Amino acid sequence: MVLPHAIEAVPAGDRYARGWHCLGLATEYKDGKPHGLNIFGKQLVAFAGDDGHVQVLDAFCPHMGANLASGEVRGNSLVCPFHQWNWGANGVCTHIPYATRVPPKARIQSWHTCEQNRLLFIWSDYEGAAPTPETAIPRINACFSDEWTPWAVRKITIQTNCRELVDNLADAAHFGPVHGSPASYFCNTFVGHIGYQMFHGSQSELLGNTLVADSAYFGPAYHITRMTAEVDGLPLHSVLLNCHVPINQDSFELRYGVMIKKTPGLSDDQNREIAHAYVEQAHQSFFQDVEIWHNKTRIDHPVLCEGDGPIYQLRDWYRQFYTDLARLPNDLRKEKVFELREGVWRTLSEVPPDAISQLHTI
Ligand code: FES
Ligand SMILES: [Fe+2]
Repeated sequence: MVLPHAIEAVPAGDRYARGWHCLGLATEYKDGKPHGLNIFGKQLVAFAGDDGHVQVLDAFCPHMGANLASGEVRGNSLVCPFHQWNWGANGVCTHIPYATRVPPKARIQSWHTCEQNRLLFIWSDYEGAAPTPETAIPRINACFSDEWTPWAVRKITIQTNCRELVDNLADAAHFGPVHGSPASYFCNTFVGHIGYQMFHGSQSELLGNTLVADSAYFGPAYHITRMTAEVDGLPLHSVLLNCHVPINQDSFELRYGVMIKKTPGLSDDQNREIAHAYVEQAHQSFFQDVEIWHNKTRIDHPVLCEGDGPIYQLRDWYRQFYTDLARLPNDLRKEKVFELREGVWRTLSEVPPDAISQLHTI
């Protein structure tokens, strides 16, 4: 007799993924005010001084513990609301109004940040290592082109561990039942810190008919999709942002955004309206997943069938972000390719022409 499969899951642990995490539009942090961030199980504060660079520090002032998010930006410093110690961008105290000497221990943890594609990113690493050049977020030229609308971005909080969201990258079988857009072709490629997905669908509740979506996670938390859908017989090109940052091990902030290639003949406002309608549809689409996530349980060893995507291989890829740098597997840079063609999954030795990503050319 075959016994029922026991659902087991090791708790998520205390690590957050190593990598760049997107915090939404960079401009939102450049209003001359401090912004409190409740992420990675901590309170942080983001601010931009006169030099325009967005900096992130731990939020609690080491003097007597006030929250710097209630402080004030002056010049390139953040001034604590309690006794007005001035904190420079690198977390060093630069000035105390009632003292001539700054104690050498007056330092706050500062976080690596970067801006790319008009978005702000923060680097997290359990071991404290700095970001390497190879993890740099690739530029999307469309973000700087008049031919495209600016990002329309929304944010929601999801009450589960972020691994549930990342599973989606390889979960080919859920697109039909949950999103009404079954995959006619699907391919995942895992190489280094990048996880690609190529998706062809025949119809989509999200974006009309004939859908080609070329997407990738660059690191653990920043997912970009280049999508072409046919709407009223015309191709509509869009770029979707899907990124998250953990609040703690049981919840995360999910941001999603849309840019569309402007349709010639329409005004900027009309094009922007289309982008906003898209982001609204993306919102509905994510809620189809959210409904499942909020009620499902964490499962480490799912029972899979032949039609399922490479969930275990995706989890192997994702595990790198929770593994010490010194213990990363040797074959991380080797491409691992899994293709669903005509209903059959195959493991391939190289990326097939149908799945070659064009993400680097947008
Ligand atoms: S608690 Fe920040 S200056 Fe005193
Ligand atoms: Fe989904």
